[in-house]
Amino acid sequence: MASLFATKPLQTLMQESQETGEHSLKRTLGPVNLIMLGIGAIIGAGLFVRTAAAIADRSGPSVTLAFIVAGFGCAFAGLCYAEFASMIPVAGSAYTYSYTTMGELVAWIIGWDLVLEYAVGAATVAIAWSEYFNRVLDWFGLRIPYQWSHSPLERMADAGPRGIVNIPALFILFLLSALLIKGTKESAIFNGFVVILKVTIVILVISIGWGFMNPANHTPFIPAPTTYVTPQGITHSYGGLLGILGAAGVVFFAYIGFDAVSTAAQEAKNPKRDMPIGILGSLVICTVLYVLFAYVLSGVATVQDFRSTGREASVAFAITKYMHGYEWLSKSVTIAILAGFSSVILVMLLGQSRVFYSMSHDGLVPRVFCDIHPRFRTPYKSNMLFFVFTGLFAGFLPEDIVGEMTSIGTLFAFILVCIGVWILRRRRPDLQRAFKVPAVPFVSTAGVLVCGAMIYGLGWTNWLRLIVWLAIGLVFYFSYGRKHSRVQAALEGRKTP
Ligand code: ALA
Repeated sequence: MASLFATKPLQTLMQESQETGEHSLKRTLGPVNLIMLGIGAIIGAGLFVRTAAAIADRSGPSVTLAFIVAGFGCAFAGLCYAEFASMIPVAGSAYTYSYTTMGELVAWIIGWDLVLEYAVGAATVAIAWSEYFNRVLDWFGLRIPYQWSHSPLERMADAGPRGIVNIPALFILFLLSALLIKGTKESAIFNGFVVILKVTIVILVISIGWGFMNPANHTPFIPAPTTYVTPQGITHSYGGLLGILGAAGVVFFAYIGFDAVSTAAQEAKNPKRDMPIGILGSLVICTVLYVLFAYVLSGVATVQDFRSTGREASVAFAITKYMHGYEWLSKSVTIAILAGFSSVILVMLLGQSRVFYSMSHDGLVPRVFCDIHPRFRTPYKSNMLFFVFTGLFAGFLPEDIVGEMTSIGTLFAFILVCIGVWILRRRRPDLQRAFKVPAVPFVSTAGVLVCGAMIYGLGWTNWLRLIVWLAIGLVFYFSYGRKHSRVQAALEGRKTP
């Protein structure tokens, strides 16, 4: 009898992680590679674009506190991810964990939901990449016309032209998909180089900018509660506790990606020890950098700057306007940001193909997603299909819609992981855990509450998008996945079609 709650036996998972053969992935990543992979996915559009938006619309200088709040939500979820990843070192991330703990239906929902985080997240950063790419072209007196660098849902100010398709976003997605097809090890080397570049830039901005902070910009540190109406006519709570919570929701995007480390578990040399190091290590490093960076950025420029001309490319703007003699830093920041965005997109695309690799292996999505290239040993067909999918989002939708869909999908996944770790502790206390979350159920409950509060803050339009996305997923599950599931087939003693 088929069951929606059939769980995948942990022993089967462990066996699969040992398997070798034409469908297996190479184990090439050590702890440093994994931390690099995490930072590669984390520092990107969230820090360099969304921080200024949070300062302008929600919190002023208390954006620093917002980064701490969002960091706590991620830390709780990150601890839960680390326990799972140290226990179940198989590709697939939260999808795999929920399959063994909460059953097939929940696993399907989360696997489908992770498409929002990884594929739609990659599309979001590709759109941000396109904006910065145009700035670089500006230096040479060139520019891709508005129509060819924006979605059809956007229009230039003052009744200017409407967008048609975002060509630079498609270009960067194509380039990085091709790199992924060529191989994980090569991609990891590229990623390592970019991570060093962007961390260096963040540290330079913090250390040089520290001397240019104006104490008046930090006073009052938490503005009195009021509202702010954006130029597009959207009203936000500004200042006070609500302002901080709203800003935490906005800058949450900056943390997305640390969990991508867990999708590479099957490629880790020593996953039980190195997965917690990779996940928590990259999260801690980024939180420290973020809090300092936000403090400096909000101290160098004013809220008014970020509400007007300084809103776009805010970091380069603040340097040019207030840090005289450091134009080289402004240009280097733009280059590093472009490279940094590329590494984020790369890890997101990698995570996406790995999740579908696992789902395909389980029969829930077609076999094509786990076909491995005979020479490169990468899931190349999956990479190609996701290039098309992410391209549709990046080419034809605006950044705020895809960005918020990414956030809500990720928060939902985090909640399921927090619940899953608790369930497995109760159901299978006997299992060996190389890393154990301290103070369960406190930590998992806190993770659910903090992430739930951020979902609440994202508002009904995003809840609706999430519900529609999940509904489409359920149609796929009942018409394909359930019939082809290997776990269901084993339960019923039949072969999968
Ligand atoms: N955290 C990633 C970024 O900020 C998604 O770009």
